[in-house]
Amino acid sequence: MNDQAPRKRPAKPYRRPKKDPVRMLAFEALRAVDERDAYANLVLPPLLRKAREKEGFETRDAALATELVYGTLRRQGTYDAIIASCVDRPLREVDPPVLDVLSLGAHQLLGTRIPSHAAVSASVELARVVLGDGRAKFVNAVLRKITAHDLDGWLERVAPPYEDDPEAHLAIVHSHPRWIVSALWDALGGGRAGIEDLLEADNERPEVTLVARPGRSTPEELLAAVGEDSGLPGRWSPYAVRLAEGGEPGALEAVREGRAGVQDEGSQLVALALAEVPLDGPDERWLDGCAGPGGKAALLGALAAQRGAALLASEKQPHRARLVERALAGNPGPYQVIAADGTRPPWREGSFDRVLVDVPCTGLGALRRRPEARWRRRPEDVPGFAPLQRDLLREALRAVRVGGVVGYATCSPHPAETKAVVDDVLKREGVSAEWIDARPYMQGVPVLGDGPDVQLWPHLHGTDAMYLALLRRTA
Ligand SMILES: C[S@@+](CC[C@H](N)C(=O)[O-])C[C@H]1O[C@@H](n2cnc3c(N)ncnc32)[C@H](O)[C@@H]1O
Repeated sequence: MNDQAPRKRPAKPYRRPKKDPVRMLAFEALRAVDERDAYANLVLPPLLRKAREKEGFETRDAALATELVYGTLRRQGTYDAIIASCVDRPLREVDPPVLDVLSLGAHQLLGTRIPSHAAVSASVELARVVLGDGRAKFVNAVLRKITAHDLDGWLERVAPPYEDDPEAHLAIVHSHPRWIVSALWDALGGGRAGIEDLLEADNERPEVTLVARPGRSTPEELLAAVGEDSGLPGRWSPYAVRLAEGGEPGALEAVREGRAGVQDEGSQLVALALAEVPLDGPDERWLDGCAGPGGKAALLGALAAQRGAALLASEKQPHRARLVERALAGNPGPYQVIAADGTRPPWREGSFDRVLVDVPCTGLGALRRRPEARWRRRPEDVPGFAPLQRDLLREALRAVRVGGVVGYATCSPHPAETKAVVDDVLKREGVSAEWIDARPYMQGVPVLGDGPDVQLWPHLHGTDAMYLALLRRTA
């Protein structure tokens, strides 16, 4: 018999957690989005700049940090459902910083090629640094459960079958709030394949598209500057150039000089269509009534200059009006930028030949650009925008002369922000106007529907889901 007291195992020497600057930065960005309602696309660039200066971040570190932040935010709905099935309390009772570390870990495990052991150990080390050793154990236990299945395996377990509840199934599988799945499906129509493609397109990082502002630059100049392997001509806009991943617009002289800019092709098509509608009579005065930050205004300004027309770019927010000034700087033709409320405009009725109102909206058409936006928006935001949208369109129709044309645009495909607003204004606001079929002014663009208005789609056109109605004032 051994009467000696059991020997105590020597305590494991304490090991300091390893700091991984990429994961630390991703965590900091996620906290800012969660805590301060910050926008990922605004928070990340300064963090990356600081990391480049202080931590010696290289391009691939920046790319990984960006992917971790954007991917985690986009897939949050899917990851929440998976994490919820691995913890024994409701997710709302898990501390938000713990949930952020878990979601970052889930994304590495299920949405990247990082090997499982590396994803778990990197997440546990991150948890030790930012949460402490106790909570790191919890993170370790949850992430180990997640390693039991791959993404498809998890989706089979946590998403209800499509046949039982199609919207709930799509919401979890494609990581969108259910009400947005429902709204987008109503707007798109059709069966399962279309809506699935659309939801997946929202989960892809959009290409960076440039516009060569006519008369100031050409797509050929931009393509030569970016090099054959790094750029492609636009799909639809004759002024567009698509950059390969990693292309830096700011490195191009034409962009720095404002002769070209970054602009989604859908946004280009809207400005081009408005400019192309034939007019009887003068075509000298153009208005952009909601101009900030100035993408469409800069393209309209360049087109107006080629025809000897002048552009007034108006924007309510003074700081955004300054962005419009910057976008239009160097425009070869006459233009003016003012800060004014388009619902109580300073211009006289009938002053313009062409008017664009690209109204504030929910942005449901640009979810791929703002990874956190889908989780922030609420169903009640949709009717919340309607009065302003109606007022801006009514004033736009008053601003245009009889025979002139108004373009009503939104970056949302939600019917309550698009057709319903136009129908309502035409019926109730006492301004006489008629629909113009917009489709002929988007030559070569397929699947534009039955008209007269046009709805673009990320999965069909590779653009944001821009809407355009063209109206001619009749009396
Ligand atoms: C969708 S954005 C316009 C985007 C712009 N057309 C572009 O392509 O860069 C809508 C703009 O309308 C502005 N806005 C909001 N309320 C307004 C109002 N009452 N009058 C004029 N502009 C307004 C917002 O500040 C915002 O800059």
